Amino acid sequence: MSDARKKQRSYWDALADSDPDAAVIDPNDKRGLKNRYLAEIRDLAFLQTLAARNVANGMLLDVGTGTGSAALPLLDAGHRVLGVDISFGLLRHAQARCGAKDGLFVLTDGRELPVRAQGFDAAVVYVVLSYLVDDATALALLENIRTALKRGAVLVMVEQVRANRRICEDGLKVQRTISQWRRMLEQAGFSSTTCTVLRHGRFPLTPLIKAGLIPRRLWPRVRSIETWVGRHLGVLKWDYAEVKFVAVAP
Ligand SMILES: C[S@@+](CC[C@H](N)C(=O)[O-])C[C@H]1O[C@@H](n2cnc3c(N)ncnc32)[C@H](O)[C@@H]1O
Repeated sequence: MSDARKKQRSYWDALADSDPDAAVIDPNDKRGLKNRYLAEIRDLAFLQTLAARNVANGMLLDVGTGTGSAALPLLDAGHRVLGVDISFGLLRHAQARCGAKDGLFVLTDGRELPVRAQGFDAAVVYVVLSYLVDDATALALLENIRTALKRGAVLVMVEQVRANRRICEDGLKVQRTISQWRRMLEQAGFSSTTCTVLRHGRFPLTPLIKAGLIPRRLWPRVRSIETWVGRHLGVLKWDYAEVKFVAVAP
């Protein structure tokens, strides 16, 4: 295993003792409110996109599943999920949360996916390839995902984006530009990519949610404001954004 992969694995394994949502979103979110809010944006993005593509009771591949935070609502919606991840510590949470449902979890660093070709109705990815800083490694994983998908099946991928490419978190993460992500998807053999800005990293209402100053019943309203801002302003020069890419395996 390369040094970069070892570094990734120990970073994520070290987070396995945290709360399962904190481990994979914001480890500093003590109350867990921000993490729940962000997880709900992710879950809606996956569920609504799959429903719009008529994927019901599908066989799904969740790449970089972590603690199974995204897998759980997909299982509850009637899908079967194979989750793969580089961290054994995080996968133990996933197994505990989802093992009794139709979830199956496998340890892999993504170089090879232990799945048969064209076996999946869709794949979901939430902020995983942003942690594959080397473009060739990220591209190889996307190619593996494309091979695992049935013809015409979709990849729904939410990743971090910047107006200018930026390496962050001490070299552990890269925020690519929308065109770099699109090019990579195209090189991996995907077609018809669409992208939607879901939220901005420094959206001013997020710290208020984190501090418990916005009641839960108003979260859907905050979400629609984020959607509106994303649609009209796109990726801002001074902030990163989480962008949903939907790409088709031809
Ligand atoms: C930000 S977390 C997201 C977890 C999950 N997708 C979610 O929505 O909660 C990133 C995940 O990517 C996993 N990861 C990083 N590099 C990976 C690789 N090369 N292969 C598989 N998983 C990887 C990490 O272990 C971690 O669980």
